[in-house]
Formats: sequence, C-alpha cells, structure tokens
Amino acid sequence: MPNRSLEDHLFNRTPILPWKTRLEVMLGAAQGLAYLHEGLEVKVIYRDFKPSNVLLDESFKPKLSDFGLAREGPTGDRTHISTAVVRTYGYAAPEYVRTGHLTIQSDIWTFGVVLYEILTGRRAVERNRPTSEQKLLDWVKHFLLMHKSCLDKNEKERPTMSQVAESLKRAIQESSGRSSSVDKAPLTASSRNGAWRSK
Ligand SMILES: Nc1ncnc2c1ncn2[C@@H]1O[C@H](COP(=O)(O)OP(=O)(O)O)[C@@H](O)[C@H]1O
Ligand SMILES: [Mg+2]
Repeated sequence: MPNRSLEDHLFNRTPILPWKTRLEVMLGAAQGLAYLHEGLEVKVIYRDFKPSNVLLDESFKPKLSDFGLAREGPTGDRTHISTAVVRTYGYAAPEYVRTGHLTIQSDIWTFGVVLYEILTGRRAVERNRPTSEQKLLDWVKHFLLMHKSCLDKNEKERPTMSQVAESLKRAIQESSGRSSSVDKAPLTASSRNGAWRSK
C-alpha cells in the first residue's frame, strides 16, 4: 500500500495525520469491521485490530490486513468461541485474556484501544517508558472521566478543583503501584457527593 500503515503515520512521523484524516481512517476501519461482524453469512472476528494492520492506499483509504488471527464467530445461540489466547499485547479485551472466550465484542474493545491511540498519538503500551507511564489505558480513562465531568453542561455537576487534584493524585498512585486497578474499580464522574468514587 502506497501510504503503508496507520502505525507509520501515528507514531513515527511529524507532522502526524490531520484530525479529519484520522477520523476518516477510523470510520473506514469501523465500516470494515462492521462488514466482518455483520455483513457476511458468517460472523468474522478479526482479532488483530491495531494501527500496523490498517494499511492506507494512495488517498489514505484504510484497508484491513493480516487475517491470520481472524476466526469465524459463534453461531446460533452461542455467544463466544473458545481459543488459545493469541493477541498483540495491549490490545486484547480483558475477558478474552482471562477466559479465552472470543466474541465479536473482543474486537470492539480493541477498536477502543486504537481510538485512544488516535487521540493521544501514543501506543497503548510503551515498553520504553517508566512503568508508571506504560499503561496508557489506565491514564486515559482517568483523564477522559475528568474531561467529561469538567465539561458538564450543568455547572453544578462539575467537580471542584480539589476533587480534580485528588483524582489526578489517585491516577498517579494507581499507575505507579497496583496495575490496572481502574478496571477493577471504575470511577464515576459524578461530583454530587463531593467526591470521585468507585462504583
Ligand atoms: N502491504 C503493505 N504495504 C505497505 N506497507 C506494509 C504492508 N504490509 C505491512 N506493511 C508495513 O509493515 C509494518 C509491519 O507489518 P506486519 O509485518 O504486518 O507486522 P505487524 O502488523 O505485526 O506489526 C506495518 O506497520 C506497515 O508499515
Ligand atoms: Mg500486520
């Protein structure tokens, strides 16, 4: 493909892709995945969605590549297929890593990880950074929650600055200590009770 992959444009180059192109690439990729999931006689789980597998043609139209890990999805009433856990580290859905149960929804998680990468211009897992910075997902979850609540249209719902500071402190503590605690105790963005709390 003339423009190589999304990976080459996201992480390795300046200037990086304009926002409009990024959105269009993600739209095209979403349409490709939707076709695999919903547009064929059998459901196909792609399993290896990541920027290096999104190839770009001369007009930056995306093409999904590398179908080596793709599997035929569950049929009838079944919700998952069981497989050995094969995946690219950092992109796999937690329930798939835990159980080996592969579902259409596993691909949705992976798409969400790439959305984070598109937003931040950083890889889901960066091994050459300090441990506290590696888990992009944990960081971004905290930041997106904060972003969402600071931008609440209802001004009474916005957190106080000390709550924002407290939440940042917690994000830093969590990512430098226990791993992935965000998944276990998701934060809610509500400030109604005066604190960011666990669900
Ligand atoms: N058909 C292709 N045309 C242009 N570049 C490609 C093509 N296939 C792969 N590449 C480039 O090679 C890189 C590595 O791809 P690949 O060998 O599939 O490894 P992986 O996807 O596991 O990182 C991609 O990021 C992309 O830049
Ligand atoms: Mg590839």
